[in-house]
Amino acid sequence: MKLYNILLLSALTLGTMACDDKNPKPEFVNGSEEEKPNTPDEPNQGGEVASSRNEQYRPQVHYTPAKNWINDPNGMVYVDGTYHLYYQYNPQGNDWGNMSWGHATSTDLMHWQEQPVAMLRNEWGDIFSGSAVLDKENVAGFGANAIIAFYTGSGEHQQQCMAYSTDGGMTYTQYEGNPVIANTELPDFRDPKVVWHEESKTWIMCLALGWAHQIEFWGSKNLKNWEKLSTFTTEAARPNIGQWECPDLLRMPYNGGEKWVLIVSNNPGGPVGGSGTEYFVGDFDGKEFKAMDLDYPLWIDYGADNYAGVTYSNAPGGRYILIGWMNNWNYCGNVPCSPWRSAMTLPRELTLKEYNGTPLLTAAVVKELDGIAGEWQSAAGGNVGKQDAYEARIKVNLNENSTIRLENSYGEYFDIEVNASARKLIAKRTASTGEVKFNNLFSLPSIQAPFNTDADEIELHIVADCSSVEIFSADGTCVMTNLVYPKETYNVISGVDNVEYRKLNSIW
Ligand code: FRU
Repeated sequence: MKLYNILLLSALTLGTMACDDKNPKPEFVNGSEEEKPNTPDEPNQGGEVASSRNEQYRPQVHYTPAKNWINDPNGMVYVDGTYHLYYQYNPQGNDWGNMSWGHATSTDLMHWQEQPVAMLRNEWGDIFSGSAVLDKENVAGFGANAIIAFYTGSGEHQQQCMAYSTDGGMTYTQYEGNPVIANTELPDFRDPKVVWHEESKTWIMCLALGWAHQIEFWGSKNLKNWEKLSTFTTEAARPNIGQWECPDLLRMPYNGGEKWVLIVSNNPGGPVGGSGTEYFVGDFDGKEFKAMDLDYPLWIDYGADNYAGVTYSNAPGGRYILIGWMNNWNYCGNVPCSPWRSAMTLPRELTLKEYNGTPLLTAAVVKELDGIAGEWQSAAGGNVGKQDAYEARIKVNLNENSTIRLENSYGEYFDIEVNASARKLIAKRTASTGEVKFNNLFSLPSIQAPFNTDADEIELHIVADCSSVEIFSADGTCVMTNLVYPKETYNVISGVDNVEYRKLNSIW
């Protein structure tokens, strides 16, 4: 696989040491963003770009574009056997800017085909994050089964815009009545996620108000005319750190009944600083969301690198499939990846379970992972062989302290501690794990995730790729996702007995 190129790495390290840009994204305050060209000169239209996708650190089982910058997943909708994944994309470079909707499609949630860019910056500004729905009933009048996308036009102000596709999501036409929700007052007003509310036969749009720590709910019958329904905020639930972004609202089965889950991304108030995605559980009556009194903040992932995740609209079987951006605004602009920057997390299936008498949102990698996996084998001496990517499963005694070490032949290692008294898994992303010098916020000596179980033993599933380690307990109650930049994928697992593993085949 990748040839470790010392010269390239030193150049990157020197280059980034001189760079003190900790958060490459400008604040989205009224008109304060620098001017950007209306029409990119030579946008990379995606889809056509040839790439072997085997450069150093290139994920082999996670989606990345052939080249250029990505952040949040957008417009995730399942239509006619195809999962569409749009995403924040810079067609012109490997840093945040010129925000457009890049596009990839998949039929199995594992193999992705990069498609031409779906939407480029327009008269309303950058194409910020948003969602898409399938208009089966033609309520919007663009034809039955048109895909309708909602995004924030971020120019002088953040306003909600709509575009529709009648060719299966490949190209979009801007709605002539844009913006569908105008705004000249609020500095942060973005990331429309549109979901269906059955009883009131109404489309609900959730919007994040950033530093105001509010989510607004708007309703519409025809997807074009929107009226404000309510505002959710909760002082008790969350200390006022970090801005609220990228909401999602899920109606989930729970204990024979149901609950509503409100997902809110928070930056920089995440579980280890920087970006993180929290959730509230409660009820939604078609107008207002009321949160249960739980021990917030609750995170959908306790690692450093799962942000802005939302779920698929129209997912088959009513599954709750979430994909997040596998990065963190604290250091994303400096991660040593070129000519692309950032990957998506593996898709996860969410379930609402009961733990300690209260709801707990759990996550496990979607079962489609089996489709790229080899046979389970036992790892003699913990050695999983030279693999770019694999899944390991390990049984861990929760009543005694232990350290699971993932190590490679360069002596780089990533330690995961089982802390029995705290009942937590603690990952250590320090200089021993590989490259960390590109940004001084990247090294994190103690990334902690609660086990969220009373069992004496859990089975951990660890998905290691060229630049990430995702850890899930088998029942999904303990989840952490972390980027790492080792010279090769860690291939020896020590500190535990009976490691089993299966190779994961490259999706490219
Ligand atoms: C979240 C976010 C969104 C915004 C987008 C801009 O990461 O800040 O709120 O729409 O990124 O790229």
